[in-house]
Amino acid sequence: MLKQNDKVIFTAQGYANSETVGVVDNTTVFVPFLMVGEQAVVRINYAKKGVAYGDVVQLLKTSPKRVSTPCPHFGKCGGCSLMHMPYQEQLLFKHAKVQNNLKKIGGLQVDLLSTVPSPLQFGYRNKLSLPVSGKRGNVKIGMYQKGSHVVTNCQECLLADQWATTLVALFRQYLNTNNIAPYNERDFSGEVRHLVARYVDGQLLVTVVSNGKFRHDLQPFANMLAKHFPKFGLYVNQNDGKNNVILGKTSHHVCGISHIQGTHMGVQFRLHPHSFFQINDGVKDLLYSKAKQLLNTSNTQVLVDLFSGIGVLTTALCSPNYDTIAVEIEPSAVADAEQMKTLNNSPRLTNLCGDANVLLPQIAEQNKGKTLSLVVDPPRKGLGATICQTILSAGFDNIVYISCDSATLARDLAMLCPTYKVEYIQPYDMFPNTDQVETLVWLSK
Ligand SMILES: C[S@@+](CC[C@H](N)C(=O)[O-])C[C@H]1O[C@@H](n2cnc3c(N)ncnc32)[C@H](O)[C@@H]1O
Repeated sequence: MLKQNDKVIFTAQGYANSETVGVVDNTTVFVPFLMVGEQAVVRINYAKKGVAYGDVVQLLKTSPKRVSTPCPHFGKCGGCSLMHMPYQEQLLFKHAKVQNNLKKIGGLQVDLLSTVPSPLQFGYRNKLSLPVSGKRGNVKIGMYQKGSHVVTNCQECLLADQWATTLVALFRQYLNTNNIAPYNERDFSGEVRHLVARYVDGQLLVTVVSNGKFRHDLQPFANMLAKHFPKFGLYVNQNDGKNNVILGKTSHHVCGISHIQGTHMGVQFRLHPHSFFQINDGVKDLLYSKAKQLLNTSNTQVLVDLFSGIGVLTTALCSPNYDTIAVEIEPSAVADAEQMKTLNNSPRLTNLCGDANVLLPQIAEQNKGKTLSLVVDPPRKGLGATICQTILSAGFDNIVYISCDSATLARDLAMLCPTYKVEYIQPYDMFPNTDQVETLVWLSK
């Protein structure tokens, strides 16, 4: 039986989500940062009931496909798990991941198209959300190490562009110079918990997440930002929750722009810091365009868009020929969506703020007898039984499902099929170098 701290020789036989899997001493072992066929000395971190997890101590046999990794933090930082694979291999890995989940969790045999690549493999992220840790005068800012809450002090993140490197360096300098205490998760002390930022079309929104009230002068930080970013806005968010939730409920605008604005896919949008926005602009546009092309609205009388965010896709799908109802739980995203309704002249759009689980049955009841179409783009936990049951009883004509977790997608599709038929299903590489994958599905009744 394997036990903690054992050193074993491990051969990677296959992939399981973000890790490789192999068998040692009748135990199934999971090890990250390897490729299939590679052999390594592995230290076991955890072992129980025939399953163990370990880390590479020494690589013994290297795959000829392995590529050198340009990031100095790779292997420590929990952000990227596939950077050692050539990009083509990453796309195959994600295809296999979705296929596996559809089969094992959903019991579905479908014709899964090949993964749509990202136009950018590096520098694609428009959002950062980094924990702040360490000590006064020596703060650490970066991603957590894999499977832990130890912060990797990142000098740069290759998934975002130069804007992120500059921002993190400036914030670290500001905190250190002003002797500001980083948050300590163990005793809940310290003042700054997270640095959250979004950079879209040359506009930067920075949110300093504080542990309750932030009493320091942010003007010096604003002055530093102004030297590098012609258009920036600064917010402070208060979060005294003793949990892992990043943003607290209240944010205060300190200076600069209050929101990001722009035009994507012909839709004028507004984006405040609490609102969701897809993190890879290039893949977002490919995904939304395909969703628009797939959704069959020829007979639609009412289009429902659940989990609609600020509603860039919703607005792109609006038409004078049918009513559109968008449902979103985050009030600031709904406020953005309301402004966009006017900006984009969408008179037949209704934005509802609330829980999709509660609102969908009401919408279905109010629109009984009409021809309904549906778009859903839920968070990682997927739709769940309540929404799937309502979809089945309301009889939506056709559905576009955008998923960021193929495991919950597979679970939901198992509930929706065979009433619905999967007409199209394809992974999109929204998150290159990581094991995350987006999937677009079109279902017809
Ligand atoms: C993956 S995002 C998709 C947003 C949008 N479709 C887009 O592409 O920008 C999921 C959205 O669902 C919202 N949300 C989460 N739980 C919800 C719920 N129970 N009811 C309604 N909206 C919810 C989140 O606030 C978030 O904006």
